Amino acid sequence: MNYNIKKITSANGTVTVPGDKSISHRAVMLGALADGTTRITGFLRGADCLSTIDCFRKMGIEIEDCGGEIIVHGKGLHGLNKPSEMLYTGNSGTTTRLLCGILAGQDFDTDITGDESICRRPMKRVCEPLSLMGAKIDGDYCPLHITGTRLRGMDYKMTVASAQVKTALILAGLYADGETVIHEKEKSRDHTELMLKAMGADLTVDGNDITVRPGRKLRAQNIEVPGDISSAAFFMVLGAVMPDSCIVIKNVGINPTRTGIIDVFKAMGADMELANKRTVAGEDAADIVIRSSKLKGTQIGGDIIPRLIDELPVIAVAAVFAEGTTVIRDAQELKVKETNRIRAVVDEFKKCGIDITETADGMTIKGGKPVKGADFKTYGDHRMAMSLAILAQLADGESTLDDSECVAVSYPAYFEDFYRLGN
Ligand code: S3P
Repeated sequence: MNYNIKKITSANGTVTVPGDKSISHRAVMLGALADGTTRITGFLRGADCLSTIDCFRKMGIEIEDCGGEIIVHGKGLHGLNKPSEMLYTGNSGTTTRLLCGILAGQDFDTDITGDESICRRPMKRVCEPLSLMGAKIDGDYCPLHITGTRLRGMDYKMTVASAQVKTALILAGLYADGETVIHEKEKSRDHTELMLKAMGADLTVDGNDITVRPGRKLRAQNIEVPGDISSAAFFMVLGAVMPDSCIVIKNVGINPTRTGIIDVFKAMGADMELANKRTVAGEDAADIVIRSSKLKGTQIGGDIIPRLIDELPVIAVAAVFAEGTTVIRDAQELKVKETNRIRAVVDEFKKCGIDITETADGMTIKGGKPVKGADFKTYGDHRMAMSLAILAQLADGESTLDDSECVAVSYPAYFEDFYRLGN
């Protein structure tokens, strides 16, 4: 059923966005592989992270959800059991790809699949480098059959800038005979490296090079998950573009591998501050204060892209309301997300009369022109839905979304928080 976006005239107040999706996945996975009990606070109870919990429960890991915290009873690196059925990862690329790295080195076989979107997303990018370690994974797309086997270390130069691929290789490296060295193309989110180090793994990072050696047990840790900057991004754009607005987004993770949007906002002239900066369990966090701003267009490309890849659809919304032209390039990875986000953004934005052009690796947006509401298609993609809701809010006239429920993948209470800020 179509969902009407109710119009607000300004956005003010405080919002606490849900826990970081990437960190939540890793906390469950590494907690399961550690010896002892991992208590996770701030865990994201979105559909993707619940898929991760479900998969590990199917492999014999006891995981309790006590409201305030998730408790993972880890069984050590070799404590997983063969699941009695196929693992189902839902819409979650992170669950699927990271599991490939863990399962390749087990002494049992597994089958993995997910929803329609997952079955269209490329898995070769992870299966191919894993095969250089000896992994046996059948299929370039889900369903995948993984034959557990002995893995060997390798020295590998990555061909895509992807934290999911990097993490799968690091996790496989925990099970390999010998050292695994991974050279990243561009620095991507490093939550796995930080968490593994805190758990006592033998892992070193030198610039874009990561070395992991097997043999050490992982020690369970208590993990406090900060708010997800990818979820904060929607309110950053809302607060910056909507007149008479000031939004305080509490406790947002600002790990430097994730803060590309902050750099872009600075370049666009946003009125923004970071308050209460602190480090929680190895991850930096702060409150983000964002006020109505006069934005200007900017150029986004190169090594900043992995630091803001998930935020690009909503950054494109900011660009629509900025004076001048914004060019996004080197963002071809957007084509293999939950949907092709370059094509989806361009097609949906055009419905509003926005001057936007698709390019081979991004898009060009000429901002500062009138924008009219439209009936939007979300492609079942949570970040498209949340970005289009912001666009709809800022456009003239009424708009609808064809699906509002997909936001549950990463932000189940999105619309409640969105309207609470309105007046
Ligand atoms: C993620 C990495 C990114 C990101 C995804 C989460 C992760 O994907 O888009 O939402 O948790 O490692 P890629 O590694 O494919 O760029």
